[in-house]
Amino acid sequence: MGRNVVVLGAQWGDEGKGKVVDLVARHFDVVVRYQGGHNAGHTVRIQGRQFILKLVPSGILCGKLSVIGNGLVVDPGALLEEIDALEAAGVEVRGRLFVSNRAHVIFPFHRTLERMTEARPGRLAIGTTSRGIGPCYEDKVARRGIRMADLLDRENFRQLYDALAEDKEVVRAAFRIGEPVDFAAIRKQYEEYAERLRPMVCDTAKLLNDALRAGRRILFEGAQGTMLDVDHGTYPFVTSSSAVAGGAPIGTGVPPTAVHAVVGVSKAYLTRVGAGPFPTEAFDERGEALRRVGVEFGAVTGRPRRCGWFDIPLLRYTAMINGFDSLVMTKLDVLDQFDEIPVCVAYRLGGREIDEMPATHRAMTAVEPVYEMLPGWRSPTAGLTRYEDLPPRARDYLNFLEERIGVEIGCISTGPEREQTIWRPGCKLLELLER
Ligand code: IMP
Repeated sequence: MGRNVVVLGAQWGDEGKGKVVDLVARHFDVVVRYQGGHNAGHTVRIQGRQFILKLVPSGILCGKLSVIGNGLVVDPGALLEEIDALEAAGVEVRGRLFVSNRAHVIFPFHRTLERMTEARPGRLAIGTTSRGIGPCYEDKVARRGIRMADLLDRENFRQLYDALAEDKEVVRAAFRIGEPVDFAAIRKQYEEYAERLRPMVCDTAKLLNDALRAGRRILFEGAQGTMLDVDHGTYPFVTSSSAVAGGAPIGTGVPPTAVHAVVGVSKAYLTRVGAGPFPTEAFDERGEALRRVGVEFGAVTGRPRRCGWFDIPLLRYTAMINGFDSLVMTKLDVLDQFDEIPVCVAYRLGGREIDEMPATHRAMTAVEPVYEMLPGWRSPTAGLTRYEDLPPRARDYLNFLEERIGVEIGCISTGPEREQTIWRPGCKLLELLER
């Protein structure tokens, strides 16, 4: 069962999904994003050229039919800017990129209102990407959101927009957030965006289901990561969408039975951007070394990422929620520098070992990680392409993780370029991609 596959983050995002999607996309006909917005930043390096994709699926770089599903929130300005940048770099976008008519539209006032929770004393600041993602999803769930189809229907758009604008102005003024917003100017700008977007917007659920019927293979590209999922992540320090594999059918309109396999992407250590509990965070100079060697700075916001050690209980949890068939391990080479490498093998809470992921942020913050020290290999792995060329201790490290998580590590990324990749001979991942 390997026809249609979800690739998603097994940690807190930034696992290197962009590279992995780019790597496997040649096995598929269509690549579709199913949640999030331009809070995501997928960095893909091809022959020395770097692309940072925020909304457009990474599959566009291999000429695949690329779809922005209904589960996304789309900032039209950001999308058009990204399309312009791709076209300027010689990537063909027109006729290859389609946007769901049911995707919700982000407006500048969503960003303004984000400051209501992020920058007010006494509120729990999440440390969001400040892209208006949360407030747009709030409008979606509150059933007052504006979708792509509404944006393209001028009469309807004006009516919906003016009603929404009135609500937002009341809230903005009541909470004294920012400066007055020029709602009329925004409306005019969005009417212009609508004309540029019109040729790309369609019923992508139909497009995808037609593709399935025609025997095409679909790759579902997750954004953020499982621990940032609104239901299963470290709530409330999460994003506002369903980043888990279960989000794929909801965010695209294909039936759940059309998703056949799930691949998790994980770093060989752990990072997190923004606030929230992080049991294995390393505050010492080794954490600093992970950040420096791993160049751990946000692709979208440039913020330094918090760095820490591999967390087996967390991976076991995300494997359970998503049902990973295989894992791709990225950035192994960042660990080349250490004499020994701590790995968290269990959580303790209130003096006892626990085998559940705590539900509250208070409990998650109180978790004490139990570490095992694994010997480092102190030799370069960057750029290796064959499993047998890995230092034996690096292989021991991977075997240890694999055994404890209970999911195979099918592929190891040893650098940002496509070629800097090790495929495990005989792994399930190769089998499910090649089927
Ligand atoms: P939001 O998605 O902008 O609302 O941010 C919510 C949380 O998710 C914050 O902690 C962000 O740092 C985090 N986040 C959102 N997108 C990404 C991503 O692509 N990678 C890593 N963290 C992200």
